[in-house]
Amino acid sequence: MSVLVTGGAGYIGSHTCVELINAGIDIVIVDNFYNCKKSSIDRIRALVDRDFKYYECDIRDREGMDRIFKAEKIDSVIHFAGLKAVGESVEKPLEYFDNNVNGTLVLLDVMRNNGCKKIVFSSSATVYGMNNISPLTEDMAVGGVTNPYGRTKYMIECILQDLYASDNSWSICLLRYFNPIGAHKSGTMGEDPNGIPNNLMPFITQVAIGKRDHLNVFGDDYDTHDGTGVRDYIHVVDLALGHVKAVQKVEKDNGCFIYNLGTGIGYSVLDVVKAFEKASGVTIPYEIQARRAGDIATCYSDPSKALAELNWKAERGLEEMCEDSWRWQSQNPNGYPD
Ligand code: NAD
Ligand code: UFG
Repeated sequence: MSVLVTGGAGYIGSHTCVELINAGIDIVIVDNFYNCKKSSIDRIRALVDRDFKYYECDIRDREGMDRIFKAEKIDSVIHFAGLKAVGESVEKPLEYFDNNVNGTLVLLDVMRNNGCKKIVFSSSATVYGMNNISPLTEDMAVGGVTNPYGRTKYMIECILQDLYASDNSWSICLLRYFNPIGAHKSGTMGEDPNGIPNNLMPFITQVAIGKRDHLNVFGDDYDTHDGTGVRDYIHVVDLALGHVKAVQKVEKDNGCFIYNLGTGIGYSVLDVVKAFEKASGVTIPYEIQARRAGDIATCYSDPSKALAELNWKAERGLEEMCEDSWRWQSQNPNGYPD
């Protein structure tokens, strides 16, 4: 089996590429390197025993994508490529809709023209919106999304479902990720955000390394066990292994499948701070700030459908997520080299 991985040089994509090759699956990477460094490709290569090709190409480049499909034997696609910063999407909605929605439309059209009808898509728990009560199950209503980034995910889910309804020879898997953190055990691959991190774990690791002097905790008056926001943090390697199962599923069965990829356990911001301090031995100073606009109190998955249908479940706990995030950050204080 040979899988085209769009956005394969990014955080989740790079970890997934390693696990695909470990599972005996061939890969071809497409990335425009907008939000990652080319050295992440070298880091993937150093961890696997088989060579693979990568192409520098934007998924919106129809001719470029068509050339790749004609040059390579591609059975299925795992589609990570996209922009992902919630705040930036509010400032730049056109760029987000163009990159994420238009990019996916071009990709799907090129796939269809080349007879490839199997795709795994990176969706997000954000599609569950503000009103569903955790644990979140795949059959809950989706779409009450409050920002352009989340809307792109919801819109792409709708597009893929309509595509399947129009032609049920497609095989489609929508994976709704919860909060990926952690890094490869080797310490050579991890999350490398540009500028000030938006997400909790990269912010904590940058405080730990001395790049930032304290963490701002956004709100301590939520209806949770300690007042801070509760999320379902999942180790990026568990998430990567979920993609191996999902691509095997679309190879085998036609359908439009939806799965939560989470642990089913919710931890608060302060739970994560404490777990990180224990794993790293470093104290994380923090200040309580106002709530961040658009945040909800609690968001965690019911991951039982993925267990029942993909035989997948997250195996790595919060302590391991913190240890691995810290190993990556402390061994690579400036992230990937240029
Ligand atoms: P990332 O930014 O590290 O990876 C995305 C990759 O796609 C980058 O390497 C980027 O250069 C590439 N890319 C972006 N636009 C492209 C384009 N037009 N053509 C070609 N390549 C392009 O992000 P990630 O955290 O690895 O996320 C991967 C996917 O998972 C994204 O679609 C994201 O929205 C989704 N997701 C992420 C999270 C999270 O918290 N990290 C949560 C839910 C869903
Ligand atoms: N938080 C802080 N301080 C920070 C950063 C985050 O207190 O500096 C808190 C947030 O308020 C929230 C928790 O830490 O309670 C997690 O925040 P993240 O930004 O790490 O993650 P979110 O749950 O807000 O968002 C993530 C992804 C989105 C995705 C969403 C789906 O980043 O792409 O999950 O639920 F849409």
